[in-house]
Amino acid sequence: MATEVWILGGTGRSGRAIAAELLSRGLSPVLVGRDATRLHNAATSLTAPATIPARTVVAASIEATAAEIQRQQPAVVINTIGPFTTTAGPIVRACLPGSHYVDLANDLPAVAALLDLDQQATAAGKTLVTGAGFGVTATESVVVQLSQPPSQPPGQPSGPALTKAPARVRVDMVPSLAMEAGVFGEALAGTILDGFPDARGRGRYEGRRYENGHLVRAPIAGSPASLTLPDGSKVTTASMPLGELIAAQRASGAPSVVSASSEAPSSPVVRAVLPLVTTLLAIGPVRAFARKRLAGVKFKARERPREYSYGHARLEWPDGTVQEGWLRLGDAQTFTGAVAAEVARRLLDGQGRPGAYTPAALFGPSLAEACGAEYLTGETAAAPA
Ligand SMILES: NC(=O)c1ccc[n+]([C@@H]2O[C@H](COP(=O)([O-])OP(=O)(O)OC[C@H]3O[C@@H](n4cnc5c(N)ncnc54)[C@H](OP(=O)(O)O)[C@@H]3O)[C@@H](O)[C@H]2O)c1
Repeated sequence: MATEVWILGGTGRSGRAIAAELLSRGLSPVLVGRDATRLHNAATSLTAPATIPARTVVAASIEATAAEIQRQQPAVVINTIGPFTTTAGPIVRACLPGSHYVDLANDLPAVAALLDLDQQATAAGKTLVTGAGFGVTATESVVVQLSQPPSQPPGQPSGPALTKAPARVRVDMVPSLAMEAGVFGEALAGTILDGFPDARGRGRYEGRRYENGHLVRAPIAGSPASLTLPDGSKVTTASMPLGELIAAQRASGAPSVVSASSEAPSSPVVRAVLPLVTTLLAIGPVRAFARKRLAGVKFKARERPREYSYGHARLEWPDGTVQEGWLRLGDAQTFTGAVAAEVARRLLDGQGRPGAYTPAALFGPSLAEACGAEYLTGETAAAPA
């Protein structure tokens, strides 16, 4: 029986974080990448000099990687190579029916496309998990936690509001992560630019939200809100068309959903020029040029800007009942490594189900806790008179 967990993009920031988390769970990762020397360095940096470094597989392209997956049929494949709108298709085709598939997608088109493969995955008897990182999992976990009907004492009727879907949901992601010096890289630049939502319905680059249960156009960096974090500090979040949007809608069943991020540009000046920038980005050659420039942008090493990262959700029911909660965790990149590794561990253990899922939809709110996070959920606010 296959037991190997492969990490595609094993030399990258996320690949190395996932490998470390797999090792801490007693699992030995296989690092897959296109350059033998970089792979060897990544594998040896993971373990003490006296121990055997992780196995590596060299594959020069996505196509070559897919061919190796088909040939060797590992138990679980974790894909960290963005943009996932490009890489997920060939890798998933290579995985089914031999391997479970996990990716880190956080852009709306990639998450939607992967979830659309539910029937193929079910027919193949395998599990596909998208959004297995801080992005998607942090906010989705809070929505799943808050959407669970409260347990009633025996003999009592169940509570009126919370057994129904909320009318309105807003989720906010507030990541905090240390950065090592480096360049943006192709995977991240491609995800940021190609992952911007030419999703569902419209070709133009713009935002999305749910209204009446349907994805509709919305401004990027719209709906700004000032949040007071549980530690008392303040951040501004604004809407971004993220995978969180789909995950929060599916988890809550709410007809009206907004997803927002503290990483969205929320200054009035930037918001004023964004429509022009996003219109230009809809032009293929402009986007290709921007992607190349962004991939080469260097950044300096940086400490984590605040102690904690947060996922936040606010659910409002038709009778005015409000539930609000937070997921608190440390470094967002470390959490990303832990989520992907924990999902892979549970799939290896046979805890998954055939089909296509986001992480907390498959494994519930306990997944985030198993990755070191903690829920801070408030009291249910009373409905206004
Ligand atoms: N959901 C979340 O919360 C979350 C969190 C973190 C990251 N992400 C996403 O995960 C992806 C990776 O991020 P990262 O920061 O880890 O990026 P990174 O450090 O640049 O690593 C990317 C990896 O992909 C490989 N790669 C890039 N293009 C490739 C190609 N065409 N063929 C084969 N391998 C290729 C690179 O290999 P080489 O060494 O050969 O260049 C590298 O190993 C991004 O799309 C990012 O948006 C999501």
